[in-house]
Amino acid sequence: MTKKRVFSGIQPTGNTHLGNYLGAIRRWAAEQADKTNFFCVVDLHSLTVPQDPAQLRHETRSMAALLLACGIDPQQSTVFIQSHVTAHAEGCWLLNCITPLGWLQRMTQFKDKSARQESVLTGLLDYPVLMAGDILFYDADEVPVGEDQKQHVELTRDIAQRFNALYETEFFVIPQPVIAKVAARVMGLDDPTVKMSKSLADKRGHAVKLLDSPDEILYVFKRAVTDSGREIRFADDPDKAGVNNLLGIYQAVTGQDRAAVEADFASARGYGDLKVRVAEVVIEALRPIQARHAELMADSGELDHVLAAGAARAREVSQPKVDEMKQIMGLVPVHPTF
Ligand code: AMP
Ligand code: TRP
Repeated sequence: MTKKRVFSGIQPTGNTHLGNYLGAIRRWAAEQADKTNFFCVVDLHSLTVPQDPAQLRHETRSMAALLLACGIDPQQSTVFIQSHVTAHAEGCWLLNCITPLGWLQRMTQFKDKSARQESVLTGLLDYPVLMAGDILFYDADEVPVGEDQKQHVELTRDIAQRFNALYETEFFVIPQPVIAKVAARVMGLDDPTVKMSKSLADKRGHAVKLLDSPDEILYVFKRAVTDSGREIRFADDPDKAGVNNLLGIYQAVTGQDRAAVEADFASARGYGDLKVRVAEVVIEALRPIQARHAELMADSGELDHVLAAGAARAREVSQPKVDEMKQIMGLVPVHPTF
């Protein structure tokens, strides 16, 4: 049986948090043995909002190191930096030319992000087309992402179907979004009604960042917003969003079912206990990841080697796909003998 192909991406810019880990990276690592995987640090996507060049450079490497530290194994998965593989930008242009503008203007992430900025860059609108290419140029069957990216994967399907229909082909594989059942949406600790997000993570108390110290993690959990009750169980009640979020994090980190999680807290004395226990399991889960990250960042050789090999492998897959796409669309190929 041929293995399913998996593609996913993560933006390098700062503040990688517990939601990214539980909703995305940890699952990529857990399922990599059974699939053919491509995991990409999407630095071109980061350029859709203004960036400091030195910081972007540092954070791109740091994110790649974090993927490895979280257990992504370069023997089993291709790990690479998006801008190292020119097929992504080249193919994005081709996809732009078959994607209706209205489809992009409807994206909720674009609407949210553009509403928060005074001047909106063209790249921000085009972001989902670049993402569609990431997925389609690898013939990915599955795209494991958090809930917030589902709409972009659905757009990718629409773009692929439109291309296939326009050129009467089955050239593009139609990918499926794969959303986690647990921790698909980790909420902000300071406000459990909004999703934990990188853009809010500069605000102390909002997020646990993967490289935060144990003291900081404990501090953030202790301040987590809950409600005025004391009952520690999963509840289908918007007033309990804070407690649900803490229990959800605990459940995702420990891998237990809901009943076992509630049993763990049967004798807890109120939310204070809950917060400290959740902080403890998170600190222990992140400890080895932080140690390995520091090791990889201290000696750049291993990381550079993994990324160069990853980019070479990614090019082998995506460049022929983009070349073939150009031909389908009527562009003249380079003559092979000159
Ligand atoms: P980003 O932070 O947008 O680069 O997202 C990287 C990955 O983490 C994507 O698969 C997102 O869907 C996922 N993700 C981001 N925020 C959360 C969250 N609060 N809960 C669960 N998954 C998330
Ligand atoms: N847009 C995604 C995010 O912010 C990152 C991303 C870029 C991605 N390209 C992708 C995710 C391809 C999955 C597949 O989370």
